[in-house]
Amino acid sequence: MSQQLQDDFGRRFHYLRMSVTDVCNFKCSYCLPDGYHPNGKQSFLTLSEIEHLVAAFAKVGTRKVRITGGEPTLRKDFTDIVRLLADNDAIHTIATTTNGYRLEKNAQEWYDAGLRRINISVDSLDPRMFYQITGENRFDQVMSGVDAALNAGFERVKINAVLLKDLNDKDLPRFLHWIKHTPIDLRFIELMETGLGHEYFQAHHLAGEAIKGRLMAEGWLYDQPSAEDGPAQNFSHPDYQGRIGLIMPYSKDFCASCNRLRVSAVGKLHLCLFTEQGLDLRDLLQSTAQQPALIERLHQQLHLKKETHFLHQGITGVTQHLASIGG
Ligand code: 5AD
Ligand code: SF4
Repeated sequence: MSQQLQDDFGRRFHYLRMSVTDVCNFKCSYCLPDGYHPNGKQSFLTLSEIEHLVAAFAKVGTRKVRITGGEPTLRKDFTDIVRLLADNDAIHTIATTTNGYRLEKNAQEWYDAGLRRINISVDSLDPRMFYQITGENRFDQVMSGVDAALNAGFERVKINAVLLKDLNDKDLPRFLHWIKHTPIDLRFIELMETGLGHEYFQAHHLAGEAIKGRLMAEGWLYDQPSAEDGPAQNFSHPDYQGRIGLIMPYSKDFCASCNRLRVSAVGKLHLCLFTEQGLDLRDLLQSTAQQPALIERLHQQLHLKKETHFLHQGITGVTQHLASIGG
């Protein structure tokens, strides 16, 4: 195997988040409040480009791939993408993040193709609030999808909820009630400021620390992080089947456990969600013969990875919304 990807701060990168489309059919108020609008003429990575990309990353240590978007399951060849990843023996874990709209129909098919982990966005358990936040009146459809995922045999079903002041901040008791008897990993994600605007952030940002305090008071225990946890802080409770993770990008040392790299749907390498434009890899995704050059480019780029993001200074980078790079 070639040398593993490592940056100048000793972090290793065995986890690739690969976006396969920018398109989304939801209008989450923190992400695409006006819905998706195509940005000129864009063509997203083809199956063959994805194959070359993943083969190179696997050579330099990638063991887990998360397929992201936009809404990745809008791709007609989504199942083929999963299968392609499953065919690569070096990739041990195939995951995706979805808004859940197609899960009810396809969860089993995707599992059978090799998908093993799934993160589903459910920002509220109140159908009206779900509609208000996501712009889509599809709470029941998504929840049926969650059930389908639980039944299909996935190793882990995670639910992502972005914490939003004055929107879903009254939902904690409902979420807790839900995971008491359901083996779900619930993850509360602190709102991150994007290029969308400071006002939304000011109005709705809710610190994860507040939830942490409430959980500790109710007997939730902090789990020691395992090597593959990444930046989430996890909690469990003897009376609950589900677990809770807090993702607090503004907390101290959040970036120290960063283990992931991102590639956008148009084939740009992003060393961090924030801070830079992304470096084009697409010219080197056209044939197997280009693999050594692609690997060389990856190693070079890793030296440019910064120790931390600059969100504290209010620098959000060029990321307009996370649909363009997959969260
Ligand atoms: N802040 C925090 N989380 C976000 N997501 C999208 N935009 C933001 C943001 N600005 C989350 C979604 C989804 C995942 C893909 O990223 O809720 O769970
Ligand atoms: Fe779509 Fe996800 Fe953005 Fe919501 S957060 S608009 S589901 S890409």
